[in-house]
Amino acid sequence: MGYKQFILLILLTSFVYCGVSPSKVILVDKIGKNFLFRTNSPVQGNSYQMYELQEAMAKKISQAGYQFPQDPKFHSYSLVWLLDSIKQKYTEDKYFKNHTEYQFSHYPIFGSIVNPNSLPNFLAKFLAKYYPIWNHDNLNIITQELRDNLLKQEETPKIIFFHCIAGEDRTGQVFGGYVMRYLNWTYQRSLDFDNQVEDRNIHDESKYGLNWYCYYLNNQGKGGDCTYEPNN
Ligand SMILES: *[C@@H]1O[C@H](CO)[C@@H](O)[C@H](O)[C@H]1NC(C)=O
Ligand SMILES: *[C@@H]1O[C@H](CO)[C@@H](O)[C@H](O)[C@H]1NC(C)=O
Repeated sequence: MGYKQFILLILLTSFVYCGVSPSKVILVDKIGKNFLFRTNSPVQGNSYQMYELQEAMAKKISQAGYQFPQDPKFHSYSLVWLLDSIKQKYTEDKYFKNHTEYQFSHYPIFGSIVNPNSLPNFLAKFLAKYYPIWNHDNLNIITQELRDNLLKQEETPKIIFFHCIAGEDRTGQVFGGYVMRYLNWTYQRSLDFDNQVEDRNIHDESKYGLNWYCYYLNNQGKGGDCTYEPNN
């Protein structure tokens, strides 16, 4: 698939706002009183489905054997770009402007059009050393932000969540970055997990984005075998 078709595909799939899909509301981590979730976009039409989101989260928290915190604060990290998301961002912005007790951050994720595994291995490894300098997604920053936020214990418990639109591709990329960096998952485990969130594999550009981060984390002894290719 060419780059242009790629962009078109993303644009088309991005404009489907279905509201909260409970199977995509996934508990990622918990530290102290705080929870971290990945999810698809809570935007449906012009409304922001905070109630449905909380319901789905409460279910997942109880399934994991924890108690849903009383009156938690919410912090949403949107991974959508401005271009594919004018309506999405508008609706979410509006919601959070009207709920100043909660927080909203925007961290656009693009993925990569270059597959590190298509390059000679020495070159992928070499480029990965400088990943934070040239990679526009720089998963170091967003995963660190999520981690610091999760670690910070305040009086009110926090529910932090990150989402794109489908809750699979860009969300899966950031999820993979987080679990490889902080929960010691391998690239293989992360990618296999992402690929079963929906009945399709994650888009190549998100996979390549995650793959680059695996090569980078290898320098710190994390991520395991970055050359893994799932067979399907
Ligand atoms: C903002 O919140 C108030 C109080 O909950 C509500 O009455 C109002 O309709 C909301 N406005 C928007 C634009 O959502
Ligand atoms: C991940 O690995 C590091 C280094 O071995 C260890 O200190 C840390 O506790 C591990 N974290 C988890 C969540 O397993």
